[in-house]
Amino acid sequence: MVMSPELCGAAIITAVYVLLMCMRFVWIDCVHYQKVADMYEKDDQQRGRRPPPVPPGSLGLPYVGDTITYLIAVQNSDLRSYFDKKVESYGDIFKVSLFGRTTVFLDLIDGTDFLFRNEGQGELSLLPSHWSRSIRALMESSSLPFTEGPIHKVLKNHWQRNFFDVSAVSRRVQTIEELAVKHIREHWPGQSVEMASVLAHDAISLYTFDVVCELCLGVKDPALVQKLRLDIQVYAEGFYCLPLRFPGSGFYRACEAKKRLTRMLELVIVQRRHELLEGRAPPTHDFLCVLLSQRDETGLSSTDQEIAAQMLLMLFAGQKPTADTLTHMIELVAAHPNAYAKLLQEHAEIASVKKEAELLSKDDLCSMRYSWRVLQETLRLFPVSANLFREAATAFQYKGFTINKGWKVAASAARVRSEPEMFRDADSFDPSRFEDTDGGAPPYSHFPFGGGLRMCPGDELAKQVIFVFFHHLLKNAQWRPVEAEHKVAPSYTCVPSPSPAGSLFI
Ligand code: HEM
Repeated sequence: MVMSPELCGAAIITAVYVLLMCMRFVWIDCVHYQKVADMYEKDDQQRGRRPPPVPPGSLGLPYVGDTITYLIAVQNSDLRSYFDKKVESYGDIFKVSLFGRTTVFLDLIDGTDFLFRNEGQGELSLLPSHWSRSIRALMESSSLPFTEGPIHKVLKNHWQRNFFDVSAVSRRVQTIEELAVKHIREHWPGQSVEMASVLAHDAISLYTFDVVCELCLGVKDPALVQKLRLDIQVYAEGFYCLPLRFPGSGFYRACEAKKRLTRMLELVIVQRRHELLEGRAPPTHDFLCVLLSQRDETGLSSTDQEIAAQMLLMLFAGQKPTADTLTHMIELVAAHPNAYAKLLQEHAEIASVKKEAELLSKDDLCSMRYSWRVLQETLRLFPVSANLFREAATAFQYKGFTINKGWKVAASAARVRSEPEMFRDADSFDPSRFEDTDGGAPPYSHFPFGGGLRMCPGDELAKQVIFVFFHHLLKNAQWRPVEAEHKVAPSYTCVPSPSPAGSLFI
């Protein structure tokens, strides 16, 4: 049957009208329901029958809630106004509906302390990790962020001792440095070049991905690295897509990328198992060897599938936050000549006592004190995780409010970072605020690597990957933002985990 254009138009208008009416009724229902619920709650409380009220806040339309407003605020780097409005209307602890789930934002400092102290203790965990449906579907339950209690503890301790702690990372500085030098030579014009521009984030992502492939997987083959890199991008984009699996959807593409990645990783795992058995690779050669040589209490090692799941995690978590942070740092330094000059001086002093081609030592990295302040300030202005989400495993009470089972609970780095009470002149770039003489940041006001049991194990590695690159970039290049990009605030590519985009420099 063929429909005339007039009929077609009328059908569309009717459909839109019906949809709007439905939304109106749902909205009226929601408001009415909320009022009735509040009335009963007050009444019951007066009679001492009911637990304290839930935190104030509006849940808005079912499912949509505040999601669009929140995402627009992330996109515009303006979470501060979003939170200011909420705090003004509801106070320090409030609830909203995000991504289809009721979410309670806890107060600053005390709330963050509470969240870090009550997560991840297995059966007793009040606030275990919370991940979106897409992330749950794309990652395996054996992957570290999904494990809880003793399993999480045993895994993390083994990783920490053999791969992530300061001395284990220091043993790998040479590899990091060789890669940094190679990348700067190949992708960044040297000081002899008068003017050239570099897509900073792209160039840095190549470097951080090479580092992760070599340190974690022991893979150097450029063709394999390239395949892994392209697929990991598609895979990670799926984290932020609706979990709708039909050909052409972002989530479908991510699932297909995951299959290809798992196949490639399993081949590498089989090969490394042989090398370990034949004594051709030491048990701490790379992160893969560390995983392969781990045994549980019955003497069994993890399966290839379990190990592939952890490697998938590393290829994403070990690369993107470091690349984003390093890009922001380079950008901020370009816009602040004072900081640039101080960094130049710090790194020139380190370089001046080194022989030609002598590598950086652990002591050199420890003496980069100003660089550490610049990195901290960069992470304050551009936190990798704007908010940390957990899930209430059971209903509980917090500061006179009831938080129901299944609700999301969040501590917000984006909110605390712009609090004038914690950070004077909070919007400005001022690495000196992290000087020891100033007492540093107040407790729980700055937690770029998270905290508690879920704290990032890769903090030391990330620092060294960033400092080593910075040292050689300062030695070999001068940079400034290209004219059009002269502002500090970068454009963003990916919601809700923003990353810098656009061209910069030199
Ligand atoms: C500047 C760089 C980095 C930043 C800012 C960062 C930040 C974070 C944060 C905030 C968390 C906690 C998330 C939560 O509590 O929900 C986390 C967890 C994690 N990070 Fe990082 N990270 C960085 C680099 C790395 C690197 C280089 C690796 C590994 C090579 C890594 C591996 C992990 C893992 C495995 C977890 C999960 C820990 C667990 O569940 O116990 N990260 N990261």
